[in-house]
Amino acid sequence: MTKIPLMDLTSNFPQIYDEIEEKLKYLIKNTQFIGGEEVKLFEKEYADFCSSKYAIGCSNGTDALVISLKTLGIGPGDIVLVPANSFIATSEAVTQAGARVNFIDVEPESNNMDPQKIREYLKNNKNKKHVKAIIPVHLYGRMANMDEITQIAEEYNLKLIEDSAQAHGALYKSHPPAHFGDFATYSFYPGKNLGAFGDSGALITNNEELYIKAKSYVDHGRMGKKYEHAMEGANMRLDTLQAAILRIKLRYLSQWTEMRINKVGYYMKGLSSINDITLPSQRSDLLQSWHLFVIQTAKRDELQLYLKDRGISTGIHYPIPLHLQPAYKYLSYQKGDFPITEQLSQRILSLPLWPEITEYQIDRICEEIGKFFS
Ligand SMILES: Cc1ncc(COP(=O)(O)O)c(C=O)c1O
Repeated sequence: MTKIPLMDLTSNFPQIYDEIEEKLKYLIKNTQFIGGEEVKLFEKEYADFCSSKYAIGCSNGTDALVISLKTLGIGPGDIVLVPANSFIATSEAVTQAGARVNFIDVEPESNNMDPQKIREYLKNNKNKKHVKAIIPVHLYGRMANMDEITQIAEEYNLKLIEDSAQAHGALYKSHPPAHFGDFATYSFYPGKNLGAFGDSGALITNNEELYIKAKSYVDHGRMGKKYEHAMEGANMRLDTLQAAILRIKLRYLSQWTEMRINKVGYYMKGLSSINDITLPSQRSDLLQSWHLFVIQTAKRDELQLYLKDRGISTGIHYPIPLHLQPAYKYLSYQKGDFPITEQLSQRILSLPLWPEITEYQIDRICEEIGKFFS
């Protein structure tokens, strides 16, 4: 029985390995480890990829969120709205910036932050006047309802940061992240659609003032000359070696997204006749970059175990809603506060997906899922 992983990070090596090896050898021999041309060029090329004016490379996707919040002046006394259905990095960044997180439930159809629930909070909650920003997450590569969320941010004069860690190349009505928000933030964690060989991330903005401030923040508040600091910042720079790797991989990213879309189409056909599962919904005005392919079923845990016993790895993104994490006990949320997120956490299952997964592998997965329910 050949095993099928949740994702295979080696299957693009034939396309990229030799070029990366050659580039890394050159950079190491020339001791180019911090900053330099590779970082500069990556920032230019990634901004172009995102159809945006400015990109700033940084240490990881969590720091990209922290830098955005700090640059926007959000800190102690402020509240930031974050979806309850996300990876903890989204809310962790708010706390790291010194602000307080408030969770919002998600829509059942998109699994993303529910604009209606944001409105309810901003109308009714006693803390509403402390809210300074919203961080929608474009989960699994599907962008949140940005028409509505942008409208709310404008109405209430709130900052908007799009957590796009899972949404490289995604579009909402032809617009990429950062078209809507003050910043869009990205992670290049190895398993992401654009993954480095270690940690790294980026911020995107179309606002020159924010760009200058954030660019300075990632490098100790440096302004112009070395050892001249306009403010205290942090060491959150993008490594030169990671920038070089990302530049090479970026050239293939659109092709890899296309391959993901095709594989998802193949999955959809293979699973369409199984009534006991809910397939992810699609909308013609979205380009979904399919970081994850997430189905839903009432028998999630049994199905996951059944597949595991047959060598097929799956994932749950995420099994514990953020508001019920021990880390947020101090916020006094209760079970039942965010019913959609809670229901999803019991039902969701991420199936194996990467650009080069074969139709043969997908056939096997669909066949096993069919057998489980028959
Ligand atoms: C939604 C989301 N936000 C933020 C992050 C943080 O990115 P990083 O791991 O690069 O810090 C991740 C990474 O998994 C993520 O999935």
